[in-house]
Amino acid sequence: MKELKGLILSGGKGTRLRPITHTSAKQLVPVANKPVLFYGIDAMASAGITDVGIVIAPETGDEIRAAVGTGEAHGVSVTYIEQDEPLGLAHAVLTAEPFLGREPFVMYLGDNLLRNGINALVEAFRTEEPDALILLTPVIDPENYGVAELDGDGVKRLTEKPEVPESDLALVGVYMFTAAIFDAARAIRPSWRGELEITDAIQHLIDGGLRVDSHIVHGWWKDTGQVQDMLEANRLILDDLGEKLEGDLVDSRVEGRVEIAAGARLERATVRGPAVIGAGSQITDAYIGPYTAIGENVTIARAEIEHSIVLSGSSVTDLEGRVEASLIGRNVTITRGPTLPRAYRFVVGDNAEISIL
Ligand code: G1P
Repeated sequence: MKELKGLILSGGKGTRLRPITHTSAKQLVPVANKPVLFYGIDAMASAGITDVGIVIAPETGDEIRAAVGTGEAHGVSVTYIEQDEPLGLAHAVLTAEPFLGREPFVMYLGDNLLRNGINALVEAFRTEEPDALILLTPVIDPENYGVAELDGDGVKRLTEKPEVPESDLALVGVYMFTAAIFDAARAIRPSWRGELEITDAIQHLIDGGLRVDSHIVHGWWKDTGQVQDMLEANRLILDDLGEKLEGDLVDSRVEGRVEIAAGARLERATVRGPAVIGAGSQITDAYIGPYTAIGENVTIARAEIEHSIVLSGSSVTDLEGRVEASLIGRNVTITRGPTLPRAYRFVVGDNAEISIL
């Protein structure tokens, strides 16, 4: 088989991750202090794919370009492809056709995370040479995904977000295609949500008698479209964390697997892993509990936090109750003032969610 190219889709509005995505692309929200998108790029590099196209949208394209650059830091060479309107995954494939040419390629949705990467799957595609290879995994809510009905080893039917799913096998957001997919994408019509669905394009391949193989993904898979998914992905990645203490620890206690970046400072703090703390952060008289990712230049003082993601530049100080299961954006301040009357005072962006438990 010819050299494989890579295609990462990094458009989309990220409506289910608002308000974080009002100011930032959903693919750049960090999981264990690394943007979701970087896991996809690194998975490509690890599978030996170095020629990678990234499809970007007008609203967030500049931010993605700034974060990824030439791709050199990840060992790949990136070409940016602008998709002017979010008209679906199959539309994105057609937009990328000039970049992809007649080469077979791996398509990776930029908000997906696979624990075991894609090496074995790419290898299977290279050696078995089907017309397309899809990845499937059992889920409890198949109606939210593309769903596959199998017939022995073959794929019988694929349906995008069916009301009554025929199986619990969801399409994972990683696909391997030959150039046959372009004609299929041109042949289909937009779905009820007004998009050219890649699911329908693959069904078109099946209907045309082409060979579509499927592999069941073992190990976890996450589509990080929503806050709960982000926190869950954070938990899963942190579960595989090593231990690296490079920051300054003064009168502090670290338990379990914890990574503290150089330039972070802990004073009278307890960190119970798995947890990561980014460079320049100050943790003072505080407790950082399991499954927490603290970004760069964050201040946590006289407060407790666990099972949460805190993005760079934010501060959480002087709280009585423990913060948990929270996704806190960039440059956010959460604090308690010393004066009376005791009251809540909020300056909160659109679509934010605050729970006082
Ligand atoms: C898309 C695909 C769907 C697939 C999912 C995986 O859904 O259309 O078939 O199961 O990605 O993440 P969307 O994110 O557009 O709702």
